[in-house]
Amino acid sequence: MKKLFGVLFVSGLVALSAVAHSDDEIKARIAPVGSSCMSGDECAAAPAPAVAAGPKSGKDVYGSFCTTCHGAGVMGAPKFGDAADWSARAGKGLDTLYTHAINGFNAMPAKGMCAACSDDEIKGAVDYMVENSK
Ligand code: HEC
Repeated sequence: MKKLFGVLFVSGLVALSAVAHSDDEIKARIAPVGSSCMSGDECAAAPAPAVAAGPKSGKDVYGSFCTTCHGAGVMGAPKFGDAADWSARAGKGLDTLYTHAINGFNAMPAKGMCAACSDDEIKGAVDYMVENSK
């Protein structure tokens, strides 16, 4: 009985230390998550560089949204850099292109799926594509 108790005791210690150990492991594993900055924390005082202040440039908007379809000409989208594709469009006048980009046009989704973009940012992206597709 004494021996059995000893075995139980030892295995109990082993179990305890295993628990303690895995606790530490878990803490170590979640540390990077727990140490990431939350807004309001001291470490979050400096604005994250990814959050650019002010309007996004036409190039940025193009690169984040429009290129998905216009980069390769998906679904008949006028292809970036393709003068023939764009000269036909440009004939409609820039204002029409702006309106179509903002409100959508056939398979062209409104604002090119950048719901958070301002009209001016979308216009900038149109300008960027037109300017670089001559
Ligand atoms: C989901 C794919 C897709 C995305 C994303 C997309 N476009 Fe388009 N876009 C199209 C397609 C398809 C057309 C061609 C529509 C047609 O002529 O029937 C088009 C056409 C256009 C035209 C020409 C409209 C005209 O009157 O001829 C402009 C300008 C345009 N897109 C701007 C943009 C801008 C700016 C963005 C990014 C903010 C964007 N697009 C993102 C698919 C897309």
